[in-house]
Amino acid sequence: MLAAYIEELGPPDVIRVGELPPPRPGPCDVLVDVEVTAVNQVDTFVRSGAFRTPVPFPFVVGRDLVGTVAEAGPGAPGFRPGDRVWCNSLGHAGRQGAAAEQAVVPADRLHRLPDGVDAVEAVALSHPASAAHLALFTHGGLRAGETVCVLGAAGNVGSAAVVLAARAGARVVAVASARDAGHCRSLGAGHVVDYRDPDAPALIRSAAPGGVDLYVDTSGHNDLEEAVELLAPRGRVVVLAGLRSRPVLPAGPLYLKDGSVRGFTISHARADEVAEAAARVGAVMAEGLLRPRAVEVLPLSAAAEAHRRIERGEVRGKLVLRVAEPAG
Ligand SMILES: NC(=O)c1ccc[n+]([C@@H]2O[C@H](COP(=O)([O-])OP(=O)(O)OC[C@H]3O[C@@H](n4cnc5c(N)ncnc54)[C@H](OP(=O)(O)O)[C@@H]3O)[C@@H](O)[C@H]2O)c1
Repeated sequence: MLAAYIEELGPPDVIRVGELPPPRPGPCDVLVDVEVTAVNQVDTFVRSGAFRTPVPFPFVVGRDLVGTVAEAGPGAPGFRPGDRVWCNSLGHAGRQGAAAEQAVVPADRLHRLPDGVDAVEAVALSHPASAAHLALFTHGGLRAGETVCVLGAAGNVGSAAVVLAARAGARVVAVASARDAGHCRSLGAGHVVDYRDPDAPALIRSAAPGGVDLYVDTSGHNDLEEAVELLAPRGRVVVLAGLRSRPVLPAGPLYLKDGSVRGFTISHARADEVAEAAARVGAVMAEGLLRPRAVEVLPLSAAAEAHRRIERGEVRGKLVLRVAEPAG
């Protein structure tokens, strides 16, 4: 089968596109004919070794797919050949990746794609929207009526976070570029603050006079002084980006607010957490409330170039690799 794979960790040039033997599923696995796979920043971290995880060579890159079930083992009773499915759990933790004509997925990390949801849109949202769900609910404990401040609110993760939080009945203060204010409002943000405005902290405070219950910085800026200053009593800061950032934690103000700072990576999410995120994201997509803002579809042969463009910071929106034309 055709695959984008590596035989050593390194720069984007180590990615080859060529033939590998097709994978064989175990009893609790599902063999999927892959239609599309997304390229995420984390895929560049796995390829380069910046994110340490078991990588068996030759190693197929990529973690997200949308495709069709080809074969389901006896321990994967919920799936039948022909089912449309999606997954965002491949390409790390010893599992081979998604950028190939076929992929083996453990049944508990494979999800049915709701009817009517477009494959390209689903694969583009799979990773960022699931991360947004984990940030808001699994780790952030967001409840209806609370106020969440989302930094990077016009980005892939941030846009999904605004939609999911508003849909859950939270008040959303979006922090984004001024040019993205209309976009953030259309997603459900009650207030939008320009992150380049020197008065941004004061504007967030006036939008959330009681403080923010949850502060999620998808930009990776991670100014914890400012975040803790903005927190309401028992407020939470969730850290999910900024691999190389080393912010100072204002410990005194944090404990006097009974506040908390918590980090997470979707790479460590349990199968039940990933499944819950996929269910919520899939439902909101099926309702037509969540769509990716910008997607560029490239052939599988462009895998290395896609990694290069992401590393150069050139990509706004999402890059998706098409592996096969839609089934049927
Ligand atoms: N922990 C996890 O499990 C997990 C999962 C998925 C993604 N991530 C990480 O999440 C991050 C965001 O991913 P993404 O795909 O959403 O990226 P993205 O689409 O590039 O979004 C980042 C956004 O941040 C905005 N921004 C830049 N500087 C800012 C600042 N100082 N204040 C507020 N906003 C600012 C950018 O706006 P402009 O372009 O207008 O500057 C952009 O809209 C990445 O670092 C990614 O690796 C982590």
